[in-house]
Formats: sequence, structure tokens, C-alpha cells
Amino acid sequence: MASPELSRWMQASGQHIEQVLDRLLPSVAEAPGTLQQAMRYAVLQGGKRMRPLLVYAAGELGQAPQAALDHAAAAVELIHAYSLVHDDLPCMDNDVLRRGKPTVHVQFGEAMALLAGDALQTLAFEVLTIAPEMKPSAQLQMLHVLAQASGAAGMAGGQAIDLDSVGVALPQAQLEQMHARKTGALLAASIRLGVLCGTELSPQQQVGLAVFARHLGLAFQVADDVLDVAADTATLGKTAGKDAQANKPTYVALMGLEEARAYAAHLLQQALQALECFGPEAERLRQLAGYSVHRTY
Ligand code: IPE
Ligand code: IPE
Ligand code: MG
Ligand code: MG
Ligand code: MG
Repeated sequence: MASPELSRWMQASGQHIEQVLDRLLPSVAEAPGTLQQAMRYAVLQGGKRMRPLLVYAAGELGQAPQAALDHAAAAVELIHAYSLVHDDLPCMDNDVLRRGKPTVHVQFGEAMALLAGDALQTLAFEVLTIAPEMKPSAQLQMLHVLAQASGAAGMAGGQAIDLDSVGVALPQAQLEQMHARKTGALLAASIRLGVLCGTELSPQQQVGLAVFARHLGLAFQVADDVLDVAADTATLGKTAGKDAQANKPTYVALMGLEEARAYAAHLLQQALQALECFGPEAERLRQLAGYSVHRTY
């Protein structure tokens, strides 16, 4: 559960990134309108915006300029939204509900959902190339970070392991690998991007932050596995109980619901410990880590 202060900040930041995304997404007036409509439908008015929030919180560590953070936050959310569109396709998780609405392929057809995902992915990188107030060298680093986190070594690679592992009882080390890639990589990239927008951190702080990001990323997907079992469809805005139904390897399948909850709490403690080399400037990141584990959807 988020404190009232965190809730207010999350709401204000959520409204802000909504406007940024609205401005950066193509308008429906541009031909071919259906693709633009599908892209906007996939991104706008939905989601917790956890990745943009992490970009903004990490930006506080190095007093990063808002305009640069906005582009970094939008870029990672665009990749995330594309990953959800493809994750929901019949050839992947075959889901009909996402963020409380029919999935993109239900609304626009499979081919258009595929293309909307493609176009959201390339838009993410385009948005980074036009990030204001950034040195080209830092911009290049941001492109590298986002590409690595999205591709075979990151999200797409993790999704491939996920699909290959249906019906397989993965041992914990392999499950951790899968989660770290499919979900952890983009969350960790969000933190890296926020940092790259600001002044450089000390080597010790960079190491601490990388450890924090790794634990947070894993904890976030463990919480997703728990919520799939413990929450209902209306609260989640996506169909509950899908993992067991589809025979997916999850932390709940591996260790049971209560153990999985306890493991998420343990990961949170480890994440917080890794931030000990920071002062109050990392408070927002600490709060977001708590929210990632204790969230209700
Ligand atoms: C869902 O992500 C898929 C995962 C990577 C776990 P989120 O839980 O961040 O989904 P939204 O963005 O809030 O809809
Ligand atoms: C998806 O994991 C991770 C992505 C890269 C999109 P899940 O398949 O568990 O995500 P949900 O539960 O459908 O949101
Ligand atoms: Mg999936
Ligand atoms: Mg899914
Ligand atoms: Mg899930």
C-alpha cells in the first residue's frame, strides 16, 4: 500500500506522463489512422506507469532535467506497452483483457496489434533520439541501455524462455533468469535511464543501484505471479488465474502462495539494503520498491 504522500506523487507523475505520451504518440489524423488508433489505445489511459515512475525517481539522484526524463520515461513505457500488446496475442498468452479494456488484438485485429507493437517499439527509440537537454554521448548510452533491455538478452529473450517453459517445472535459478529478463530488465533499464539523464553517480552508488534494480525487478514479477492467484480480474484489469490455467512456471507454482509472498518481501529487504549508500535523495526509489511488492494490482 502506498502512503498518502506517495499516492499523490504517483498520481501527479502519472498525469504528467500521460500528457507526454499523448504528445509523442502519432495523432489519429495521420494516415493510416487505424494503426495510430491502435497505438494510442495500447498506451494511453492505463497501467500503473511503474517504469516512468522509476525513471523520475532515479532522476532525483542526479538532479536530472525534467524534459530529458520525460523522454526517457516515455520511451520505456512505449516498449513496455508494446510488450504487453504482443504478450496478449493468441500466439502468446492469448488474453482478452488488459488494463481493464479489451486487448488490442480483440479491438483492432491480430495483424494490427502486431503492427502497433512494432511501431511502438521503434517510436520508443525515436523518442530517445530527440530527448532534449542531453549530450549525444549520454543519448547513445540511453539507446544502448534500452535496446539491450528490450531484446534477446532482456525482455524478448525472457518472453521466449516463458513460452518454451509452458508445462515445465523450472528450477528456481532458471525461473529467476526468466523473470529477470522478461520483466526485470526493463525495470532496471528505467532506473539506468533516469540516472543517465542526470549528473554522474559514484562507482559505489552505481553498484548499489544496480543491485537494487536487480532485486526490485525480480520482486515485481514475483508480485505479478502472486497477484495472478490472489487478486480478482476486476481489480487486476486483466484475467486472473491465467498462469495456472496456462501451466506457466511461476514463483507460486514453484514455492506456493505464502512462500512466494515471503520471497517477495525478502527481495524487498535486499533491494533496500543495496540503497544504504544513498541518503534522502533515494527515498522515492525506496518507496516505489515497497509499492512494487505490496501493490494490489
Ligand atoms: C505487467 O506489468 C506485465 C509485467 C511485466 C509483470 P505491469 O504490472 O507494470 O502492468 P501495467 O503497466 O501496470 O499495466
Ligand atoms: C509478461 O509477463 C511480461 C512481459 C514482458 C509483458 P506476464 O505474461 O506474466 O504479464 P501479464 O500477467 O500478462 O501482465
Ligand atoms: Mg506472458
Ligand atoms: Mg501475460
Ligand atoms: Mg503475469
